[in-house]
Amino acid sequence: MKLISFLPILLLIGGIASKTNFKANGTFHCDYNAWCFFVTLWEEDITESWNDVIDRMGTKCVFGRHSWDYKLDGNEYEDAPFLDKFYEVFLSVRHNCTSFGIREVRSDTTYESVDTAVSYITWDKDLTGDTGTPYKEFV
Ligand SMILES: *[C@@H]1O[C@H](CO)[C@@H](O)[C@H](O)[C@H]1NC(C)=O
Ligand SMILES: *[C@@H]1O[C@H](CO)[C@@H](O)[C@H](O)[C@H]1NC(C)=O
Repeated sequence: MKLISFLPILLLIGGIASKTNFKANGTFHCDYNAWCFFVTLWEEDITESWNDVIDRMGTKCVFGRHSWDYKLDGNEYEDAPFLDKFYEVFLSVRHNCTSFGIREVRSDTTYESVDTAVSYITWDKDLTGDTGTPYKEFV
């Protein structure tokens, strides 16, 4: 009888989305004197066919400097309680620090418990070179 009276309360708690704040930062390096990049922080969604954008900054062009510090900040809300106990988070950056054209490189995936309140991710990357997937546009 006690259990039955607790049941609605448990369902209510389970139905409230918990929030995780993701803070990503790092330094991009490039040997060229003029280069642009577009960085995005993603959450991989296994239950959907697309990934969630947590945060991104517009295309940034850097002139006369070989490194740039970036910062991203955004929230994810647990949408499938009891199924998926971890967020799978990664960064991607499209840049033209190449001999020709735009390329995209990705960070490793970070796993974060949905119970974490604030998650910190640091990704430093030397972008110089022709590795990664070619793209026509930054966005
Ligand atoms: C990134 O954030 C960490 C704290 O989480 C800090 O120690 C580090 O200096 C930051 N790096 C940059 C490049 O801002
Ligand atoms: C990247 O693009 C910017 C803007 O078009 C250009 O000024 C720069 O020379 C390019 N850098 C490289 C290394 O291609």
